[in-house]
Amino acid sequence: MIARHSIDQVLESAPIEDVVGQYLTLKRRGVNMIGLCPFHDEKTPSFNVNPTRGIYKCFGCGKGGNAIQFVMDVEQLPFAEAVRQLAKRFGVELAETGQQEQEEEQEAQRQRENLFAALAFAGDYFVKQLQESEKGKAIALEYFYERGFTTETIRRWELGYSDANWSGLLDAAVKAGLEKEVLASASLVKQSESGRWFDMFRNRVMFPIHSVNGRIVAFAGRLMGKAEGQPKYVNSAESPVYHKSDHLFGLFQARNSIKKADRVYLTEGYTDVITLAQAGIENVVASSGTALTENQIRLLRRFTSNVTVLYDGDQAGIKASMRGIDLLLKEDLNVRVVLFPQGEDPDSYCQSLGGPAFTEFLQKTEKNFILFKADLLFADAGNDPIRRAEVIRDILQSLALIRDTIKRVELLKELAGIAGQSQETLLYELNRIVRGNWQKDGEDTQREIDRIAEQAQLEPVSVSFSDEHQERGLLAFMIRFGTLRTGEEEPMLWEIAMAELNEGTDIVFNNPLCARTFDALRSLHAANQPLTDNFFTVTDDTELSSFVSDVLSRQYTLSDAWAKNDIQVLTEAQNALEELTSIFNHLRRKKIELTIQDSLSRLAELGPDEDWEQLLEYQMYLMEKRRELTEPLGTVVTNYTSVQTKQ
Ligand code: CTP
Ligand code: MN
Repeated sequence: MIARHSIDQVLESAPIEDVVGQYLTLKRRGVNMIGLCPFHDEKTPSFNVNPTRGIYKCFGCGKGGNAIQFVMDVEQLPFAEAVRQLAKRFGVELAETGQQEQEEEQEAQRQRENLFAALAFAGDYFVKQLQESEKGKAIALEYFYERGFTTETIRRWELGYSDANWSGLLDAAVKAGLEKEVLASASLVKQSESGRWFDMFRNRVMFPIHSVNGRIVAFAGRLMGKAEGQPKYVNSAESPVYHKSDHLFGLFQARNSIKKADRVYLTEGYTDVITLAQAGIENVVASSGTALTENQIRLLRRFTSNVTVLYDGDQAGIKASMRGIDLLLKEDLNVRVVLFPQGEDPDSYCQSLGGPAFTEFLQKTEKNFILFKADLLFADAGNDPIRRAEVIRDILQSLALIRDTIKRVELLKELAGIAGQSQETLLYELNRIVRGNWQKDGEDTQREIDRIAEQAQLEPVSVSFSDEHQERGLLAFMIRFGTLRTGEEEPMLWEIAMAELNEGTDIVFNNPLCARTFDALRSLHAANQPLTDNFFTVTDDTELSSFVSDVLSRQYTLSDAWAKNDIQVLTEAQNALEELTSIFNHLRRKKIELTIQDSLSRLAELGPDEDWEQLLEYQMYLMEKRRELTEPLGTVVTNYTSVQTKQ
């Protein structure tokens, strides 16, 4: 393979006009050069070359590209051959990757294998120290037994002991032929300033940490008893085989059980995992006392989508870790939590209750995270209305992360009870959040596209409806529900809808009376006036008022009007806003589609003297945006069913 930087170098060294000039005569015309196209028959030149940008385009047959593309086209060569030919001609020495990169990769792999070997050696060494040395047996093994670990458990988890000697492991490893540097990069040994080498883990009980495939990647060493000024746990530093945020303690041992139970218990500590597993609850892992990372969550998701988080009973800690749980929700996992009595952690509580009672405790106490959070935060907020409102918003933010609409609604119902609010109010708020989350992306894109369109001097396109039925349907809908107020303080539905109509998309109504009706609504909105019941009836414009009453008298439903489009709409009156939103988003996508078509046809019309390069680039940008926009925008809950914008 040819190295990327070599290809760039070829493009820099091969002037497009020279490359093309070999095959045809070019004449200067403004900033461009022009000639007879080599790819099709023509009498008047339409083949353009832009030396500054290094590109060419024929306005007769449409072929275009850079120097490499030209050689490929004209010589009928594959990419690599075209590059080689140009390199030879313009004196560029090509760096072939492959060879070098392969060697580097092999070297890195060798180093990783060395690290694994050192870690495995250390694992064996620590186990031997525990099981065979006098001190190991007398102190460390005793320590484990005191904590309630059985002989079987100690063997299964490959628990060990690092002796108090400053170089026990180091000496044994060197004797076995391992290099100090390798031991050091596995953070098993260290070198002092004075050059002396020494063990990282001394006089600690050892917990090996495995990769999901079962190789030891790191260790944790725990103090036995207390020692002033020393950390309870010492953990391996990061290394080429150990990135803390990519591993979960116990996952290797638990993976099959997690799959079988379709649930994982997430704890904080090494000992929590070991004790629960010993008690027969084997589907358990630990985050090792830190906040969960996305990588860890993805790792878990390979085995289940149900997570139960086991919390130590300390309020400050719980609140701190709530954000981390939002991350679980965002990654589409179902999250439940169990709170332990004050002063207990899963390890201590399981030891004191015993396996069966502990399992029962888990099942009885387990609670959906959102409801758990609500209970906790509402208890905290007491009767303070402002704080309660904040809590509601906070919880709805979490709820909005749940993608399964049925689940979202079930939780919302329960939440309404806890919050002492109506389901409708919460639903309305929730949908605003959900919509806000996914519309922000859409609007940012729209703004960017408008900006570039302006630069490229494209007229902004407007979107119109497929037929009058849709126009009338939408207006009827807006007027009928525009007067709905869902709460004193809340913005009215139609006001939001108007804002969307005005800002999100430039929608054009083809039927003149529809357009006038819409204009009337628009002026009302611009004047900051609410839509009243008699707005269209008490007016001099009799034509308009009779048109509106006709519109309103027919039973238009949006579903009808849009059923034949690629959008599925539901007809609950209360869900006007959600329905409108999905329509607006549909229109937004349609607008981008139209912009693309518009720029395409302009590109075809553009003469060579015009700024086709910019338009070509703009074109590519739009295509990319279209690709992004065809990602599903999201789902909005509407009265216990869902509206999904289909692609
Ligand atoms: N931890 C750590 N370094 C520390 C303290 C804690 O890495 N100095 C990590 C460990 O992974 C530990 C987890 O945080 O398992 C939870 O800490 P803690 O609750 O203090 O310890 P326990 O797991 O309960 O350990 P033990 O029961 O042995 O006290
Ligand atoms: Mn503990």
